[in-house]
Amino acid sequence: MANTHKATNTYQLITGATIPALALGTWQATDEEVYNSVLHALKTGYRHIDTATAYGNEVPIGRAIKDSGIAREEIFVTTKLWSTDHNDPEKAIKTSLNKLKLDYVDLYLIHWPVAMNPNGNHPIVPTKPDGSRDIVGNWPFTKTYQLLEPLVEKGYTKAIGVCNTTVAKLEELFKLDLKIKPAVLQVELHPYLPQNKLLHYAKSHNLVVESYSPLGSANSPLLKDADIQAVADKYGVSIATILISWAIWRGTVVLAKSVNPSRIDANYQIVDLQDKDGEFLNGFAEKKGGYQRFVDPNWDPVVIFDSSD
Ligand code: A2P
Repeated sequence: MANTHKATNTYQLITGATIPALALGTWQATDEEVYNSVLHALKTGYRHIDTATAYGNEVPIGRAIKDSGIAREEIFVTTKLWSTDHNDPEKAIKTSLNKLKLDYVDLYLIHWPVAMNPNGNHPIVPTKPDGSRDIVGNWPFTKTYQLLEPLVEKGYTKAIGVCNTTVAKLEELFKLDLKIKPAVLQVELHPYLPQNKLLHYAKSHNLVVESYSPLGSANSPLLKDADIQAVADKYGVSIATILISWAIWRGTVVLAKSVNPSRIDANYQIVDLQDKDGEFLNGFAEKKGGYQRFVDPNWDPVVIFDSSD
């Protein structure tokens, strides 16, 4: 019989706030699916919901949070600044709060470290005549970060942070004289992309790291991997349980997305991995001879991911 327990683990942010280690991810789901899954997850015991402006689902998430009847301060809510809003994060977060029907979010993240034209031909992915993304070339994400700092002072968000950055990009940020330190780094992390160096670097700067696509996103090859299955068999659990448990074993927040009630319940049950199994998965991509990224949009001419870390 598997020795599972509820994923009620928490970490402390640099702000002093507590962040639950397991969050419900909400990318790539319809409004109805998102409403039902958030409501179900909150009933199950999840206390952390991750969304983003670009997911287009802040309204149903806000409704589900209200309808759950759970006190606002018991739920950790994250949303993200989209690339077409880098010039005006205050306007963007007010729009998000209005959609979520919340007075504040717990965490506001820069979704991608690239600014796009706020007045382009599309609100989410504006393009140039040649079809490439309409990128604002002379706008470093560090400038955007400094526009996020006042949002904490004004009470719109309790903490700020970044997503989809490499060690090199974080170094650019930490060179600045920041008024408010980033609390969180959210990046793609799973055994095919463990980003051990990035994780180590982020932790050394007191960032709590969040693993997105921890199951390998839709149609994941991770869920069919024979070597990870062998680890799962040892514990008598599914591969998904091992992936979520490993993310927590290595001290990250894990954003597991599901719109299926039984999978939402299953993902709330984890095992305590033995260190040797955790280390095995840390070194798995290297042993397999390469890493694999599932989320890698084309930001041409900007290159975001020039290495595995
Ligand atoms: P579904 O929403 O139908 O459950 P990630 O979190 O890496 O983005 O992965 C999400 C994908 O994994 C979704 O396709 C989701 O589908 C699926 N998924 C979520 N939980 C599980 C689970 N416990 N077992 C198998 N697939 C899962």
